Amino acid sequence: MSLMIGTTPDGKPFTLPADLGDKKIALLAQSKKGKTYGLGDILEELAKAQRPFIATDPANNLWGLRVLPDGSPSDLRVVVIGGDHGDIPFEKDAGERMAEALLATPICAVIDISLESLGSVRRFMTDFAGRLKRSKPEIPRVVVLEEAPVLIPQKARGPQMEACKSAVSWLATIGGNFGYGVIVASQRAATIDKDVLSQCEALIVMGMTHEADRDTVRGWMKSKDLGSLAEQSFNELGSLKAGEAWLWWPSEDRFEKFTFRKRETLHPREMQKLGLKAGQVQLGDMQAFVERMNRDLTRTSSAVPADVSGQPGKVKRSRAGGDRAGVAALPAESAKADPHVARQINDQSRRIMALTKDLEDLMTENKRLQENLAVEVRLRRDAVLRLDAVRAHLRPQFDALRKLFGEIGEASPAAANGEIGEAWTQWLEKAAKIGAAKSLEILVRRGRLTQKQLATLAGLSIKGGHWARCRSFMTKNSLATLDGEYIVRAEL
Ligand SMILES: Nc1ncnc2c1ncn2[C@@H]1O[C@H](COP(=O)(O)OP(=O)(O)O)[C@@H](O)[C@H]1O
Ligand SMILES: [Mg+2]
Repeated sequence: MSLMIGTTPDGKPFTLPADLGDKKIALLAQSKKGKTYGLGDILEELAKAQRPFIATDPANNLWGLRVLPDGSPSDLRVVVIGGDHGDIPFEKDAGERMAEALLATPICAVIDISLESLGSVRRFMTDFAGRLKRSKPEIPRVVVLEEAPVLIPQKARGPQMEACKSAVSWLATIGGNFGYGVIVASQRAATIDKDVLSQCEALIVMGMTHEADRDTVRGWMKSKDLGSLAEQSFNELGSLKAGEAWLWWPSEDRFEKFTFRKRETLHPREMQKLGLKAGQVQLGDMQAFVERMNRDLTRTSSAVPADVSGQPGKVKRSRAGGDRAGVAALPAESAKADPHVARQINDQSRRIMALTKDLEDLMTENKRLQENLAVEVRLRRDAVLRLDAVRAHLRPQFDALRKLFGEIGEASPAAANGEIGEAWTQWLEKAAKIGAAKSLEILVRRGRLTQKQLATLAGLSIKGGHWARCRSFMTKNSLATLDGEYIVRAEL
């Protein structure tokens, strides 16, 4: 059995094997080149072939599998968890129970994480993937990571992100031996975890012009020792149109160009083009399944020992978390009265929960910054104190220097303040043009002093180029002569 997902340039059907449960495939293209659309083709075919998948969706698109392009319900059996079209709400603390419920029935599932805060997603996915890891499903599952860098970024920052990345990337690397296949989709090949990418045995590459991403793809080709096999198609990547793709699958000896077929279900990004309004879409019926899954969810959770707070489940809830779960639970009651209104209220309360979580994160960050600021202020105060100590230490030298300059001044008090003759005034004007006026004026007034004294009084460093230029101006124009370390005014 195979998945019919497109056509080759000579009009033949392009297929992938239906059994992807032990395969690792990456789907890479820059934005708007048809990744999500094509991924939808693959998921439609998997659902039709009753091959269960679990797809995480940060971009709120895959619920469209349940709707036909005209807005009417599709008959694909795909349960949607979370998001604004979820059959079952996303609960950040329910990762383990959700994994158990999805393992209990070989169903296709979309986990829409588009409404959740990153913290909630990481928490859920760490537990979810960790739980999958502990089971080997009899019927393999294809784990689909849409916009994969959200969960498996190349650079994970912070322990929460590290934990999530490590749990999810286990599924994507080693999971193949335990009944988990993987399809990772990303619009930035360069930002996806390199371990996961290098483990992928097949690449579906679509339009791509960004150099860093092309380098990543080239790295993959090199690691698979493709030589010139994929070289020509690599050069084509920059000019591929939306929907056009290359499959490189060296272990199957497949290097094929194809175009993803037209979608049978809705790609929500096309709603405007199709003239569909949000209120017009109707999702296919999953009620019977959802009821069973809800039963599974409660059964699994009650099977897990209660924690000290009396809540079911292994994961302890914080007080705030418990309260928020309470907010989310209210609309579920009113859903019986009007499911549409209840869904809207539910979405809003989820958004509020996500915002509250983000606010909490920001407050924590704010606290951390305040603490850093306090440290900086203390360091600055210490630095000022140290500077004062240095000043006090240097005071005797400073006083001695001042005395020395005072003595020079006293040596010719009249010249120090007196008028400067006509002949010198002309030279001072010329000196001003190269910034040597101050040095010259001091020399004219003092008559004789060491070069170091003159440079210092003129505010220049004796070692600097500026002083060298001033001195050279004076000596070359016979305004001064050098006498050892002294500089002496000439008589004009
Ligand atoms: N195989 C295809 N056939 C027809 N149109 C396509 C195809 N793939 C993509 N498109 C068009 O391109 C748009 C962008 O595709 P999408 O899959 O959302 O891009 P991506 O996920 O790469 O950002 C779609 O809304 C659709 O109009
Ligand atoms: Mg997309």
